[in-house]
Amino acid sequence: MSSPPPEFARRRGVCPLSEVTLPTGDRAMLALKHADIQQIMSDDRRFTRDLSAPDAPRLFHNLLMLEDPTILLNMHGDDHLRLRRILASAFTPRRAEGWRPQISEEIDRLLDEMERDGRPANLMAFAYKLPTRLTCKMLAIPEEDGEQLLTWVSAWLSFAMPREELDKAAADFNDYVVALTRRRRAEPGDALIDHLINARDVDDRLSEDELVSTIRTLIIGGNETIANSISRMVFTLLRERHLWETLQADRSLIPTAIEELLRHNPPGGGATGLMRMATEDVELDSGSGTVRAGQGVFTPLVAAAYDPQAFPDPEQVKFDRPKSPGTLQFGAGRHFCLGIHLARTELELMLTALLDRFPDLALATAPEELPFSEGGYGVTMSELPVVW
Ligand code: HEM
Repeated sequence: MSSPPPEFARRRGVCPLSEVTLPTGDRAMLALKHADIQQIMSDDRRFTRDLSAPDAPRLFHNLLMLEDPTILLNMHGDDHLRLRRILASAFTPRRAEGWRPQISEEIDRLLDEMERDGRPANLMAFAYKLPTRLTCKMLAIPEEDGEQLLTWVSAWLSFAMPREELDKAAADFNDYVVALTRRRRAEPGDALIDHLINARDVDDRLSEDELVSTIRTLIIGGNETIANSISRMVFTLLRERHLWETLQADRSLIPTAIEELLRHNPPGGGATGLMRMATEDVELDSGSGTVRAGQGVFTPLVAAAYDPQAFPDPEQVKFDRPKSPGTLQFGAGRHFCLGIHLARTELELMLTALLDRFPDLALATAPEELPFSEGGYGVTMSELPVVW
């Protein structure tokens, strides 16, 4: 579930940058070395994430996350910078620290619910509730709408849903956010959504459509990633019990453990990563080859994470790996994850609370029997049954 396709390792040895056929039949380059993936993701001048041109290569047809040119992730240049600046002040390390009491409170509430519901519990279901409830707080969304938000997020990440259903989900999601901004304008407060509405209404720093798409981006960005990270981290720790015990004995290891667990078993699983397109010919510094202007290049983060030149014995979880090179699990360059500090805080507090409250936590199912759902961008763990 965590390792990249074996084909990646074989290719990396013989042709680390090579042309491949994508699931759509389009052709693009595939980069498999950590150094190359880092260079491509960091070079925002010569590689763009805007793949909205009709002749741009497509990784999948019918994947809203990749085809919507109005979300931050798919924007390029000055427009991307402008929107990113509006959001930046709400996602600093200090702001993430400021969220600690509320995150802890939510986690306590969730774990109370888990305890009350009894064993076995599906930890995945609880893992979803944490980021959803926080998103609701940030954007002044009634908590009871959280489940509905998740169905829209999963439509956004699905490439298996029929087109009509996708289009309906996209339209409903948009209408919901438009109604939300209307309600909030009538009754303003002091949440992140008010900061965004002010940037629109008072400072005119973004258009109405951008306001709506930015709110959608935040809902999409912060849910599936966190829920999957929590479940995958806990799964690895319980499958390799000595790792759980190591953290029980020394909580100061938790921040480094999180980075290593994300590398070893990233939230998207298998082969996720996003495509970029070269705006001019780029010869990679490592000597792996050249990406030609107009060519797409796919950079699977899990390939970087399992490059033995960057991470010796990549299949092993080691909490004492050197800090450099970094894992790239939060990206690199201008699209570097906006929510990284918030994500790290959520993961750290969740892991600490589980270790504190459920020291005997164990998998309730054999690891190889755990169900995974496919058809979404990245393979998702659909259930994580645990006992204590
Ligand atoms: C463990 C959890 C998370 C992981 C592993 C993760 C990973 C990533 C990665 C790899 C990218 C860059 C993609 C690329 O450039 O190709 C990204 C971008 C982004 N992330 Fe996260 N993310 C996480 C949590 C969050 C959270 C909690 C939020 C907050 C709401 C968030 C919001 C975003 C946004 C808005 C972007 C787009 C930034 C841009 O395009 O400028 N993420 N994330």
